[in-house]
Amino acid sequence: MGIFSIAVLPGDGVGPEVINEAVRVLEAVGQQFGHEFRFHQALVGGAAIAAEGAAISDATMALCQQSDAILFGAVGGGVHYDRPDSSVQPEQALFRLRKELDLFANLRPVHVLEPLLDASTIKPEVLRGTDFIVVRELTGGLYYGKPSEIRQTAQGLEAVDTLVYSEREIERILHTAFQLARARRRRLTSVDKANVLSSSRLWRQVAERMAAQYPDVQLSHLLVDSCAMQLIRQPASFDVIVTENMFGDILTDEAAMLAGSMGMLPSASLGVRRTAHGIFGLYEPIHGTAPDIAGQGKANPLAAILSAALLLRHSCGLPVEASAVESAVEQVLAAGYRTADLIADGQHALTTHEMGDQVVCAIRQQHAAVS
Ligand code: IPM
Ligand code: MG
Repeated sequence: MGIFSIAVLPGDGVGPEVINEAVRVLEAVGQQFGHEFRFHQALVGGAAIAAEGAAISDATMALCQQSDAILFGAVGGGVHYDRPDSSVQPEQALFRLRKELDLFANLRPVHVLEPLLDASTIKPEVLRGTDFIVVRELTGGLYYGKPSEIRQTAQGLEAVDTLVYSEREIERILHTAFQLARARRRRLTSVDKANVLSSSRLWRQVAERMAAQYPDVQLSHLLVDSCAMQLIRQPASFDVIVTENMFGDILTDEAAMLAGSMGMLPSASLGVRRTAHGIFGLYEPIHGTAPDIAGQGKANPLAAILSAALLLRHSCGLPVEASAVESAVEQVLAAGYRTADLIADGQHALTTHEMGDQVVCAIRQQHAAVS
């Protein structure tokens, strides 16, 4: 039996609804497998700006630091914070968490489940067998480079963003990716724009040099534009993709469409700090706050629930429990249950909470069947 301390940051929009279901799933896992999850909730994003004046308070940062893992919903999308020049932005919460907690490795698995082959806009025969993972560098590149500003010049306004990567930053994310590939099908695709960007040329050099340390992994390079095309043309050809921050952000939204919906893709953001049970990390669905459907019980909680499965695997050291959650999700989908994002008009859609119920039920039944 384990005791795990989890910081729960539901955030804005559909964040609270989907995180609520992920928490219920973890509670069910706790009951079935005899673990105790201690949840500590805090505000983040627009909700925290409104109540506490900052996207994430120092107290919430401290809470996160003391936890084994963070379960995060989504931030942003509120009407009051849409202005890009506003000095307080909900997204700052994410940037602060990622940077201060040194969560540099963002893992985004893209596993196309057989029952959802028809939910995607891509042909089933192209999708079948797709199972890859994107390793996105999360604490460097354009997101953090300075200067980043709009400024006045004699000719009018101009804007600058800075794309900078150190050798050390590239090395550590590539180590993560090489090691992951080693544990999978041993194929690593490093994605860059080396025909244009200096940072990409350094990235490629470092990857080439490191390949010697991983002779069992087959490394190839792909330009990001070509990768965007290959993801749609032959998604099943990929095993592990590693790339810098902004490219990873864009490619994973594209990849979500392979899995049928943005509501299906989980993510884990990991650093190096170890807890008593595993690696400290932040777990979040890759989708945003979806303000158009917030509060209506329409959101798909499966990305949040699958993020909780990653939390069990990486931060709690509970691979059996993680797999139990993943197979419960597959089972529920195979039985035909769908939220609105996964069905054609006219079919019956489950609410967010009903979908959570189905997963909880499946976990209980699975466990009853083996014990
Ligand atoms: C993501 C999101 C964030 C990002 C936004 C909300 C700042 O799109 O996690 O993919 O760009 O990193
Ligand atoms: Mg994104």
